[in-house]
Amino acid sequence: MSQYTLKNAHGMELRVLDYGGIIVSLAVPDRTGRVDDVVLGFDRLQAYERSSLYFGAIIGRFGNRIARGRFTLDGRTYMLATNDGPNHLHGGVKGFDKVVWKVSPFERQDSTGLVLRYTSPDGEEGYPGTLRTTVTYTLTDGNELIFDYEATSDRATPVNLTQHSYFNLAGDGRGDVLDHVLTLKAHSFTPVDSTLIPTGEIRSVAGTPFDFRAPTAIGARIGQDDEQLRYGGGYDHNFVLDKDRAEQRGAAMLAARVYEPSSGRLMEVFTTEPGVQFYSGNFLDGMLTGKRGTVYPRRSGFALETQHFPDSPNHPDFPSTILAPGREYRSRTLLRFGVR
Ligand code: GLA
Repeated sequence: MSQYTLKNAHGMELRVLDYGGIIVSLAVPDRTGRVDDVVLGFDRLQAYERSSLYFGAIIGRFGNRIARGRFTLDGRTYMLATNDGPNHLHGGVKGFDKVVWKVSPFERQDSTGLVLRYTSPDGEEGYPGTLRTTVTYTLTDGNELIFDYEATSDRATPVNLTQHSYFNLAGDGRGDVLDHVLTLKAHSFTPVDSTLIPTGEIRSVAGTPFDFRAPTAIGARIGQDDEQLRYGGGYDHNFVLDKDRAEQRGAAMLAARVYEPSSGRLMEVFTTEPGVQFYSGNFLDGMLTGKRGTVYPRRSGFALETQHFPDSPNHPDFPSTILAPGREYRSRTLLRFGVR
């Protein structure tokens, strides 16, 4: 197994494993210039191999759940591996988080990066087609971390790639993330059933604890008596990103902004994707030992998984996740770090 380190001109440092493309650490300056690691993880590879939390990993072939691991495409029904109760989650038993990627580092004038490649054989975890996947991580001197995803297949197949880093902008191991202030550029979300599969409804966030259109602390309403929060044990939902968002970085539009008051760190998420899964770390059970021997309390990290909507192959009304042979899957997400 190999580990790669990327640094930029402002003290940011990223460490990545070829296993799962896992981001094991991401050092970011706070408002005083002090640098802390802002992602959760483990000290040892073995812990990543055993874990089903997806800390820092590339997710594929399909981010989030597919109901009962089943979908029909061109008249044929496919059965995928089920690894989350009755459902298929994050690519199955051995998803892209648990394979070894071929890594090539590169350097440019104002950035440095890694190209990660993996070819998923036809039938892997039940999916049709040989899927050739390239994920590029770029760290820029503008304090941006860019994820570029590309894939091609020799047969039609669903694809929904994402990155599953858990952030704590106060610093890894510094308590929970309930004081982080979140803004989501989403007027609606996709409510789920008790197994976290979207019901198909697109529901307005207005008047619900899912309204993050104005900056709101993650913890402000997480304890409310709400059926959707109960199903997720907190936030574990796909938000439907507004179609016209003013702030853009190329084709990627601002999806989310997270501010941590004690450190002053600010993270902005731009994406070309139509949705984002906001996960408030509800399955962290307070028993888990992470980096440097820190025990991670419940909700000590959050994830913003930019994506197409969960279970899309079973919802013809959702934006399509089917990649046709001869076409190219392309997706970009950009994290911009700053302080306030
Ligand atoms: C996603 C899922 C969650 C959970 C985490 C990893 O966010 O939606 O339910 O599986 O990944 O634990």
